[in-house]
Amino acid sequence: MSFKVTVEPAGYSFEVQPGQSVLDAALEAEIVLPYSCKGGGCSTCKGKVLEGEYEAGEAPQHILEQHELDEGFTLMCQAHPKSDLRIESPQARLTTDIQIRKLPARVLELEKLADDVMRVVVQLPPSQPFMYYAGQYIDFILRDNRRRSYSMANPPQENNQIELHIRHMPGGAFTDYVFGVTEPALKERAMLRAEAPFGSFFLREESDKPLVFVASGTGFAPIKAIVEHMKNKNIQREVRFYWGGRRPKDLYMMDLAQQWEQTLPNFTFVPVVSDALADDNWTGRTGFVHQAVMQDLPDLSGWEVYACGAPIMVESAQKDFVEHCGLDVAVFYADAFTSEADLVE
Ligand SMILES: Cc1cc2nc3c(=O)[nH]c(=O)nc-3n(C[C@H](O)[C@H](O)[C@H](O)COP(=O)(O)OP(=O)(O)OC[C@H]3O[C@@H](n4cnc5c(N)ncnc54)[C@H](O)[C@@H]3O)c2cc1C
Ligand code: FES
Repeated sequence: MSFKVTVEPAGYSFEVQPGQSVLDAALEAEIVLPYSCKGGGCSTCKGKVLEGEYEAGEAPQHILEQHELDEGFTLMCQAHPKSDLRIESPQARLTTDIQIRKLPARVLELEKLADDVMRVVVQLPPSQPFMYYAGQYIDFILRDNRRRSYSMANPPQENNQIELHIRHMPGGAFTDYVFGVTEPALKERAMLRAEAPFGSFFLREESDKPLVFVASGTGFAPIKAIVEHMKNKNIQREVRFYWGGRRPKDLYMMDLAQQWEQTLPNFTFVPVVSDALADDNWTGRTGFVHQAVMQDLPDLSGWEVYACGAPIMVESAQKDFVEHCGLDVAVFYADAFTSEADLVE
């Protein structure tokens, strides 16, 4: 038996079929609720159930706080309705122009941007324009049907080429292959199976509020896509971009970010390094990247935040910005780069 879910305050509604999660059914109905990992590991899809019965699964117990569970919050990627539901999701929006598709992807370029970051350019079939929102991600489907997600680092291009920034996680099934730790290594001209676009990490253009972008490591990739999109569309909102890494080498495209600061109106770039070595001769900001934001902008009411990268950074940023800097949680947009090891089975 299917159940109807109504999303407040927008009033959108959709049907959930047996076995479907609330998130999957919403996406099928072209309604984007906030989400990132789709696997119960990141809490981006956290939403409040106002009315109705549902099966929550195990994951909320592990990653939500007790007071959130008590207030009716759950993870929409794990929730299965047992009756009609009314849920609250101020970030929900319609996307009738974007279609999720399975596609072959041919590797065009492999370039090391740092010892542990690879720039990978893939060609999607040129026959049909591949549409997505700058900031969204692509899934590669491995031989055993496991998936790995990577944020697209460029806005849509006429030639259907996609740039990715992939960080090596030693022992990782896919990135050991990309970095040639396991043989045969990923090579130019290799074909990968992909499905895209996914995610709710894209610029909400209806707003003209000033923006904080905060990234750690390869969390730079979707920020790059969004900044290039803003440049193409001549969107001149104020941007403060904070990019954090352990060492200066983790900020693997620092020149590009500095160039944005010099050429884009209202754009500030703040690199932040947490564990510089003496040899690095680092004279810039130090510490955790989200704390640098809080030092500079103790009052974030009136700002919108886009945070991307390590799950711990994204989680701390949301918690601290909302609790200590007055940020409205409805305008905290995030992609947490969870890995399979973070997901609760
Ligand atoms: C929405 C989204 C966007 C993303 N975008 C990017 C991006 O743009 N760039 C990027 O670099 N990454 C991104 N990621 C992360 C990416 O999807 C992968 O998780 C990452 O590349 C690791 O994949 P892997 O197959 O190499 O490692 P996995 O096989 O998933 O392993 C990850 C790590 O965990 C360890 N491990 C594996 N299994 C276990 C276990 N059972 N117990 C303990 N440790 C274990 C491995 O040794 C390895 O170090 C994104 C993730 C999400 C959800
Ligand atoms: S999208 Fe549901 S927990 Fe990550």
